[in-house]
Order: sequence, then structure tokens, then C-alpha cells
Amino acid sequence: MKKAHLTRKLSEIQAFESPRVELEQYQTPPQLAADIVYTCYMQGNREVIDLGTGTGIIAVGAALMGMNVTAVEVDRKALQTARENAESLDVDIDFVEKDVSNYSPEKVFDAVLMNPPFNVQSDEGLLFWRKALEIGDSVYGLAGKGFKPRLKRLCSELNHRIAVCEAYTIGLPSSYDFHTESVKDTPVDLYVTESKK
Ligand SMILES: C[S@@+](CC[C@H](N)C(=O)[O-])C[C@H]1O[C@@H](n2cnc3c(N)ncnc32)[C@H](O)[C@@H]1O
Repeated sequence: MKKAHLTRKLSEIQAFESPRVELEQYQTPPQLAADIVYTCYMQGNREVIDLGTGTGIIAVGAALMGMNVTAVEVDRKALQTARENAESLDVDIDFVEKDVSNYSPEKVFDAVLMNPPFNVQSDEGLLFWRKALEIGDSVYGLAGKGFKPRLKRLCSELNHRIAVCEAYTIGLPSSYDFHTESVKDTPVDLYVTESKK
């Protein structure tokens, strides 16, 4: 599937019905989700996992490209939306309702894809990265600006290296009141890490 077609398909994804601020529930824009998934596919990854899948935009994109996808999410309501999105775009995904901190997969994954909570001062932000670097040969993950030194330290602890750091800007709702149009342009980085093994 061409990237432009993938982006169009991902534009059909149903958004969070009532986003929960404490879980940083905002959706990755379709074009960025398509970029992440397409790059991951072109680099030969086939068995992938999306941590904190939310409405499933990254997981559905990966499945549309033909990858085998597992998707983990703690919030039941979001997971229900993700299931509906997978159904309406006609893809199969192994959905797991679980807190990432309690998740220990039985499979090995070529790649972890994720747009995790950005609050790297909290345990939550680091928790996702730690888990991702433990379970994936590669990680394709978004992070807020200034995360690189922390990620470098985590990578050296967990035997990964940062292969790519690419800057994007995403429009995030300035509040979680989705009835307003106010969106704040927020700079983010897409990191790709590779295991040194
Ligand atoms: C920034 S949103 C990204 C959602 C989606 N992956 C996307 O790209 O649009 C982060 C997601 O992580 C989920 N989440 C937050 N903490 C979690 C945890 N401890 N375990 C599993 N999921 C979690 C949130 O509910 C939310 O859906």
C-alpha cells in the first residue's frame, strides 16, 4: 500500500470519545502515524507491538501494511474504540487490555511502535520507553523535546542505540475540550532505536 493511501485510510479512524487527561489521550495525526508505520514496514519489520494504542491509529496502520500487530491499552473505553476502528478498516489485531507496567509478552517483537505519554518527569513516560527497549529489537517512538539525554542513558543501559531522531510538529488540543478548535503546535521527535545485539 502506498503511503498516501495509508494516510487516507487512517484519516477514517474514529477519535477518542471522551479523552482522559491523566492518560494523555490524544491521537497521533494520520500523516505522522502513516510515516511511522510505513518506515517501520520498509525497514523489514513484520511482528510489531503498539504500546498505549489508544484509538488504534498506529496499530491499524501497521495491520493495513500487512504486519502482525499486538496492541496494548489500559483504558477499556479507548480499547473499544480501537476494536471498532480495526473492524471498520477490516484488519485483525491482537488487542490486550493491560497496564504497560504489568505487561510481559510471550512473543519477541521486531519493533515497538508507540506514541507514549510524554511526561518524562513521571514514571509513566519512562516506563513505556523502558518496556519498549526491553521487548523490541527496534523502537519507533515519539517523545517531547529534550528527551534525548534520558533516552541515551536508557539505551546504553538496555543495549540499544539511537539510529534516527527526526523532528515533527503536531497539533495538540490546548485543552482536552475537543469541542473547541484550539490546537497548539507542539514540536516532538520521532526516535528510532536499534538493539546492539
Ligand atoms: C498519547 S496517547 C497515544 C494513543 C495512540 N497510540 C495514538 O498514537 O494515537 C497515549 C495512550 O497511552 C495510554 N496509556 C497511558 N498510560 C498507560 C499505561 N500505563 N498502560 C497502557 N496504556 C497507557 C493512554 O490511555 C493513551 O491511549
